[in-house]
Amino acid sequence: FIKSIILAGGSGTRLWPLSREKYPKQFLKLNETSLFQDTVIRCLEISGISEIFVVTNESQKFFVSGQIEELGYDIPKENILLEPVGKNTLPAITYGMHEIKMLFGKAVVGIFSSDHILDKNAMLTIKESESLASEYLLTFGIEPTSPHTGYGYIKPSEQIGIGYKVSEFREKPDATTARKYIEEGCLWNSGMFLFDTDVFFEELEKYEPDIAAEFTNSEDIKEIYEKIYSISIDYGIMERSDRIAVVKLQERWSDLGNFNSIYEEFEKDANSNLVYNCDDVLIDSPGNLIYSKQDKVVSLIDVTNMIVVDTPDALLICPKTSSQKVKDVVSALKDTN
Ligand code: GDD
Ligand code: MG
Repeated sequence: FIKSIILAGGSGTRLWPLSREKYPKQFLKLNETSLFQDTVIRCLEISGISEIFVVTNESQKFFVSGQIEELGYDIPKENILLEPVGKNTLPAITYGMHEIKMLFGKAVVGIFSSDHILDKNAMLTIKESESLASEYLLTFGIEPTSPHTGYGYIKPSEQIGIGYKVSEFREKPDATTARKYIEEGCLWNSGMFLFDTDVFFEELEKYEPDIAAEFTNSEDIKEIYEKIYSISIDYGIMERSDRIAVVKLQERWSDLGNFNSIYEEFEKDANSNLVYNCDDVLIDSPGNLIYSKQDKVVSLIDVTNMIVVDTPDALLICPKTSSQKVKDVVSALKDTN
């Protein structure tokens, strides 16, 4: 069996004011289930419930256990790993891999973000990739549709089994470079990985020996996290290792990074509006995303392609095309608080 690690520690600042530090986007119910719950359901395709590990933090642990319980599953308490502080994805993955190695010895582990939309069939491809993981750090690639600068770019070379060796991995290039990579046939990094514990720790020791050493030298997670720095798996290992391979996923995948991607992904009404939880009166106003949890009527007149998000203590209004900038509001609020 493949084990699973679900990363659920991010806060998703581009979805403010829906997504908050205390109520991050992966737990929001944009459908009947949250993105986190969808991730758990997908992981159950490859792992038993006791083989799923969630790396999160103290303030989110009740969402994790509560939302898993809601699905009718009982996850062992030890499988919810609490980071004292977020130090990005490399420490979070290392924490999960370390626990799995202690519990099960050598294992193949799927690493999953908790804020993606993904067709369940992709899990079959992931299962079929298992043998490649004994030699390579495996990542899953998506055919790019735009020179998005928020993704990693993967250059496939020689074919191996159902995948390809990777000659270059580049995290978050600028738009010009991204365009060049697309012309050269690169794929987007989906942010999902399949790692064998042996290969992972070999590469960690090679490229981030300090992080590897802290996990070997101490059993106190607070102490370990005090000593290590913040770094993502992509910059820390994927860009540097020469043992990377990629398997292409054909299934529908989306990183719900901002309101525009939520608008694109979900079903709209006849006027191309995506409306959540409100009694709306919309006059000549197509192409909007409107969210209100309040007991009130939202009305738009001659408004097109806007985002309107109303919560008890904050209201956001911006054009759909500016949704990347929503994170600047969060930074500005942090500065003034
Ligand atoms: N536990 C924990 N601790 N989880 C974390 C932390 C942390 O400190 N930081 C981030 N995460 C979780 C997030 O909640 C998310 O589910 C996942 O790890 C990925 O982190 P993001 O911060 O969303 O990464 P990204 O979107 O900028 O980039 C990654 O994903 C892209 C695809 O969506 C990279 O892997 C890119 O290369 C990739 O293209
Ligand atoms: Mg992301």
